[in-house]
Amino acid sequence: MPGLLLGDVFPNFEAETTCGRVKLHEYLGDSWGILFSHPRDYTPVCTTELGRVARLSGEFSKRGVKLIALSIDSLEDHCGWSKDILAYNCEKSECCKLPYPIIADSKRELAVSLGMLDPDEKDKDGLPLTARCVFVIGTDKRLKLSLLYPATTGRSFDEILRVVDSLQLTAEKRVATPADWKPGECVMVPPNMPEEEAASLFPAGVFSKELPSGKKYLRYTPDPRNQGECVDTERSQTEPNS
Ligand code: BEZ
Repeated sequence: MPGLLLGDVFPNFEAETTCGRVKLHEYLGDSWGILFSHPRDYTPVCTTELGRVARLSGEFSKRGVKLIALSIDSLEDHCGWSKDILAYNCEKSECCKLPYPIIADSKRELAVSLGMLDPDEKDKDGLPLTARCVFVIGTDKRLKLSLLYPATTGRSFDEILRVVDSLQLTAEKRVATPADWKPGECVMVPPNMPEEEAASLFPAGVFSKELPSGKKYLRYTPDPRNQGECVDTERSQTEPNS
């Protein structure tokens, strides 16, 4: 089965891109990376997605994330289509060039080896197109997260930024982030951490929610990068652990 598992070292492939030939690990350097694929150039959903990423590129740079896109189209198509993406999505003053390279995988070699093809979406010759994949790669070049959307559903890149915030926090601190978490909100103490260890690691306090089971596994602590209170209304109904 082609494809990658979480924790695998991301292949250091070489590819032609709109910014010249790229070797992935050298391109990423010490940064985090996001490789995202789209089904086809000159298609509507893809045009909105690549434009959204262009507009959010400053947010990705702030987080030390380098971006690279991929589809099975040619370099010539990527270059022609880039002008449409910019015209549709960006003010003239904002950018005159997409702020990330697009890989031309016209032989589908990367798409096959990385498990990116969508068997339900085919081109006029009956060959599968690339799905909407997202691979988040850590500074150790290992896969930290992958998403796989069908061609017919555009992604939320605000969610991908949120996910990067969680991945970067949890790479640094031994915490987990709950559903819909955003930076600054309370984080969760991992279930396998003994209470005494949690108390010494999180001096701002560990708060647990009373549950019918009586088990104290829903434990919150303030975001360790932004020490404050657990301000979240629903989640603040917690009791400090003694
Ligand atoms: C699109 O980007 O709009 C698209 C591409 C392939 C299949 C369906 C939609």
